[in-house]
Amino acid sequence: MSDQALAGVRVLLGVSGGIAAYKAAELVRRLRDAGADVRVVLTANAARFVTALTFQALSGNPVRSSLWDESAEAAMGHIELARWADEVLIAPASADLLARLAHGHADDLLTTLCLASAAPLSVAPAMNQQMWAHAATQANLATLRARGVRVFGPAAGSQACGEVGSGRLLEAGELVAELAAARAPRVLAGSKVLVNAGPTYEDIDPVRFIGNRSSGRMGFAIAEAAAQAGATVTLVAGPVSLATPPGVTRVDVRSAREMRAAVLARAGEADVFVAAAAVADFRPQAALPQKFKKGGAALELTLVENPDVLAEVAALPRRPFTVGFAAETQDVEAHARAKLERKGLDLIAANEVGAGRGFEAADNALLLLWPHGGREHLPRADKRELARALVARIAQLRADANGDPA
Ligand code: CTP
Repeated sequence: MSDQALAGVRVLLGVSGGIAAYKAAELVRRLRDAGADVRVVLTANAARFVTALTFQALSGNPVRSSLWDESAEAAMGHIELARWADEVLIAPASADLLARLAHGHADDLLTTLCLASAAPLSVAPAMNQQMWAHAATQANLATLRARGVRVFGPAAGSQACGEVGSGRLLEAGELVAELAAARAPRVLAGSKVLVNAGPTYEDIDPVRFIGNRSSGRMGFAIAEAAAQAGATVTLVAGPVSLATPPGVTRVDVRSAREMRAAVLARAGEADVFVAAAAVADFRPQAALPQKFKKGGAALELTLVENPDVLAEVAALPRRPFTVGFAAETQDVEAHARAKLERKGLDLIAANEVGAGRGFEAADNALLLLWPHGGREHLPRADKRELARALVARIAQLRADANGDPA
């Protein structure tokens, strides 16, 4: 992301009541670092956690919290403030605030501004994990999403209340990156993108399988970034426990052969295929029909090679722009370039795996390589940020190939 990703953008930052409200102070700084002009509105409950003075000092602008503040209404009335905003961002957004937004309430300054503003609305939820998981909260979110409201996060982890789960506010830097990405040009508008992700499971018997440590996060992040860039996205997912990114069509599969069938059925009409799945290279020759019982004897497994889904797509007569991944433990660049050429790819994203890198980590670093010596190093970052950079590179290379101005 460029340093001034939000240069000149007028951001109305709404802060609602919750312990995460203190993090909004850092967010104001980060938004300003990114070039945004920030005005802050606190709800009455937020003002119990943080002071208007902090936000006034950080934003360099007066802070509002009431509809009935006569001097403020005289300076910049709430309708003017609603019109002023290019973006409305609410961070943290409490469960109560989401409920009030979902139902169109206008019973305080912030909710009134949300109704009165034509600017895009983004919310960054933060709450206890039970409150987040509650059907009422999820129904409110579905309503807001259906209305085009962007939802940033929440992240999972340990919470201020001592519990562990989903509901943590994204970090300030992540929120700025999300907002910048949401405003980014839709570089894949009109394109069909097919992504595969996750591991495959190769059955030994009805209860055992051979799998691998792929979390699917990278592929899911790519699907999300492609959708944000305006593409129509289909995600063929191996067995993972990840939520489907908004706007993405998901097809669940289990084995490499199922993965192959699901991908090949859709590759013909795709403009781009990204093979982020960790497809198992081998499978047991035949899965046992009954559970294997131990009895002292060694169990011998004969493994046979699985189809190479990526190589098959790359070999199609009318193939999509084909992107592969390479997980390497050494000589990353040399091995990845050899793989790019051997499989005949348009682009390869190589990462070094092992010891806390790659598979299970939330962040990663990638080396992008393409034919004729093309190369871009993407330094260690959150997988979603890497995914956005990868999508930008794909769009650029396709535009170059078509002779379009990028
Ligand atoms: N891939 C695939 N089907 C397979 C194996 C791999 O589609 N049966 C794809 C992966 O999705 C990835 C790329 O191939 O995009 C590279 O996979 P990797 O396992 O790193 O490399 P291999 O091609 O298997 O080569 P090697 O084992 O020599 O590293």
